[in-house]
Amino acid sequence: MRILISECEIRQRVTELGAAISEEYAGKPLTVLGVLTGSVILLADLIRATSVPLRVALIQASSYPGARMEAGPLSVDRSLVPDLNQRDVLILDDIFDTGRTMLGLISVVQEYRPRSLRSAVLLWKTARTCVDLRPDYFGFSIPDEFVVGYGLDFNDEFRHLPYIAVPDEADLAEARRSAASCSPGNNG
Ligand code: IMP
Ligand code: MG
Repeated sequence: MRILISECEIRQRVTELGAAISEEYAGKPLTVLGVLTGSVILLADLIRATSVPLRVALIQASSYPGARMEAGPLSVDRSLVPDLNQRDVLILDDIFDTGRTMLGLISVVQEYRPRSLRSAVLLWKTARTCVDLRPDYFGFSIPDEFVVGYGLDFNDEFRHLPYIAVPDEADLAEARRSAASCSPGNNG
């Protein structure tokens, strides 16, 4: 696998994002709403890089069923979402690709009547964005390549890698083989 963003670069950038968020949300009722499953590593690191009081909440969104790289229709599971009324909500996802997931999530979360609503992602594939929306916070803009690691998966594999990498054909074939022997994953 070719490493695109190292563990050290991620750590440094997440620290910067935490500082920016701490400044923006000082004195405000912040809820960081992590998008399952891809944001879990970022969520854990970012909230520890943030020095203001905050609540953590989770929502699940998925559009990549199984061992595929093209997104299907967005499905959102809101069963874990707490009361967000009058909270300053920051939706946190792993990557902003076409932007359709974030756009869909924003319209879902608006229904909870938050005081404010913004988005943050680790990665932004700027060349692929096709909606009239930009992430309010992003860690790195990256080229149009399929990446894994630091929460991002292919067929639910590779999330645990501490860096962001571009898998090669052999890596993908390996993950597809495990897809054939288990039931397919479908969880963002
Ligand atoms: P969007 O709706 O096109 O912005 O896609 C966002 C979702 O697609 C993210 O939450 C990821 O789960 C997934 N995704 C997009 N690009 C990648 C990638 O390069 N690797 C792994 N997952 C990706
Ligand atoms: Mg995701």
